[in-house]
Amino acid sequence: MTTILVPGKTGQVGWELQGALAPLGNVLALDRGRMDLTNTDSIRRVIREAKPEIIVNAAGYTTVDEAESEPELAMQVNGVAPGIMAEEAKRIGALLVHYSTDYVYDGELNRPYLEDDTPRPVNVYGASKLAGERAIEAIGGAYVILRTSWVYSNRRTNFVLTILRLARENKELKVVDDQAGSPIWARALAEATADLLRRKDLIPAHSGIYHLSAAGHTSRYEFAKTIIRIMREVSGIADGWASVKPITSDQYPLPAKRPRNPVTDKDKVQRVFGVEMPRWEDQLRDFLAGLSGTAPPAEAAEPPAAGSL
Ligand SMILES: NC(=O)c1ccc[n+]([C@@H]2O[C@H](COP(=O)([O-])OP(=O)(O)OC[C@H]3O[C@@H](n4cnc5c(N)ncnc54)[C@H](OP(=O)(O)O)[C@@H]3O)[C@@H](O)[C@H]2O)c1
Repeated sequence: MTTILVPGKTGQVGWELQGALAPLGNVLALDRGRMDLTNTDSIRRVIREAKPEIIVNAAGYTTVDEAESEPELAMQVNGVAPGIMAEEAKRIGALLVHYSTDYVYDGELNRPYLEDDTPRPVNVYGASKLAGERAIEAIGGAYVILRTSWVYSNRRTNFVLTILRLARENKELKVVDDQAGSPIWARALAEATADLLRRKDLIPAHSGIYHLSAAGHTSRYEFAKTIIRIMREVSGIADGWASVKPITSDQYPLPAKRPRNPVTDKDKVQRVFGVEMPRWEDQLRDFLAGLSGTAPPAEAAEPPAAGSL
């Protein structure tokens, strides 16, 4: 049976991968206690012991603002560790799937980015993720790098859960209207990754970078309004929701600058691997219906059986 190693099991994507990848093999999902990405020896040792056919790296340093004050740590986890994984994967002939971000772009292009447009990160997080991409590319094994965008789930902290909370606690929310993205439910991303791996024989000949996020795009402001509108509908709770007002990023300064419009073209992953994503609004509706209890739960309390090392 195919062994699939998944570092980052406690994260939004890593959690969902455990269920989505289960039909494809024996999933060995690892928390940071089993594989610490700041410890090169730990990465090498675990991969050498497990000898997986596939590694799907869902671990990463993801706190964009904190990265500004911890650049070495962000670089070690996002920039260096993926290269070590790629080296070990190549040594044993394993495929590597790795997640990156549309924050590698500066967001100043006036059309959707293509995978070979020049990345110009505007913050430490983006620079560290770009370094990870380059480290994997330099090893030259069989790999797929998936640049995704605005991930949410019912775990950890994310934009959707934050808006839902703030919208009940306040009368008015101010949300930036000059940043765009393609919000994706972690479950949809995990399922798309599984679809891609169903065609894993294509990876050696098509190693490279692919955009993979929801179809369509939106601004943070429109996204917030849509979260509240759909939640009102699916929950049946009509009152007690904040109104949403647009502001600019300058009116809401944060430690890390954000790219303004890093919207990506997603045709390549569809052309090469046949992976097609639903529109962001449809994913959001499914997710919120699960959260409000009007559809099957968005996420089981425990992921389906996954192995551990
Ligand atoms: N979230 C987004 O909006 C977004 C957007 C674009 C791209 N991405 C990329 O998508 C991937 C998955 O994101 P996500 O939202 O699922 O992230 P997440 O929920 O923040 O989870 C990150 C995972 O990485 C683990 N981790 C962090 N530092 C580690 C270390 N030193 N050693 C081992 N494990 C470590 C965390 O473990 P602990 O639980 O122990 O902290 C957690 O399991 C990442 O590569 C991210 O850069 C995310």
